[in-house]
Amino acid sequence: MPEEKHTKYPSVKRISDEERITMVKEIFSTITGRYDFLNHFLSMRRDIAWRRFAIKKMVFFKTNRFLDIACGTGDLSINAVREHRDVSVSGIDFVYPMIQAAKQKSTKKNLSGKTNFLQASALNLPFVENAFDVTAMAFGIRNIPQKADALREMLRVTTPGGQIMILEMTFIQNRFFRLFYYIYLNYLLPLLAKIFSRNAAAYYYLADSIMNFPSPEEFASFMGEVGIADIRIYRRTFGIACLYVGKKV
Ligand SMILES: C[S@@+](CC[C@H](N)C(=O)[O-])C[C@H]1O[C@@H](n2cnc3c(N)ncnc32)[C@H](O)[C@@H]1O
Repeated sequence: MPEEKHTKYPSVKRISDEERITMVKEIFSTITGRYDFLNHFLSMRRDIAWRRFAIKKMVFFKTNRFLDIACGTGDLSINAVREHRDVSVSGIDFVYPMIQAAKQKSTKKNLSGKTNFLQASALNLPFVENAFDVTAMAFGIRNIPQKADALREMLRVTTPGGQIMILEMTFIQNRFFRLFYYIYLNYLLPLLAKIFSRNAAAYYYLADSIMNFPSPEEFASFMGEVGIADIRIYRRTFGIACLYVGKKV
């Protein structure tokens, strides 16, 4: 589907899982080139601070390996190996242009010896059981309809005692800020995206997917039902983003 055809993608509430996956693949392969710039610009560089916060919470104790699922252009992977010097990282994403961008970035920063980026699905991770001290997904789970399956895969490849981390956008709970956030997501953000991105429709999808994501309490309890233990929620920037940290026991 050529990107110019879209003015808006259908709401995630109205499409099947298969249609949603096709849509997600299309969106992320058309916005790769401007992804980093728009991420930093539209979040006023908060995305950088949110990833940094997650990286500071990571504890490596056995395998010294980190898995970054839905790694996109590789920011979480690259900054994790910069902070945790003895650690190596594998990053996976099902959109090949994202993997290419991550590889290029890592090579540019002389980190290609510590990073390995692969095209793969979050639902079928190409790794053996218990391989990683930390598995994380930043801004990925919102795009995956089969959330329980993705979390189970994270559990499978995490070493016992290791951490499972989800960093995700949330629709603000506070009533007052919620109105401003609604206006920002639905009016300002698509307008800015129209100026700076060739696929502005992708940013309608962003708003829609954020507003349809469960509340932090609901999502944490969902993680618990899948078998992840000791879940803690860290709210960032008025609750726009949340870091969920759990354990494999
Ligand atoms: C919003 S981006 C986040 C990228 C990166 N983690 C970051 O922090 O900027 C979401 C990424 O999830 C990837 N993705 C979505 N569903 C996926 C799946 N089932 N398997 C692998 N990657 C997936 C998309 O291709 C996209 O690159």
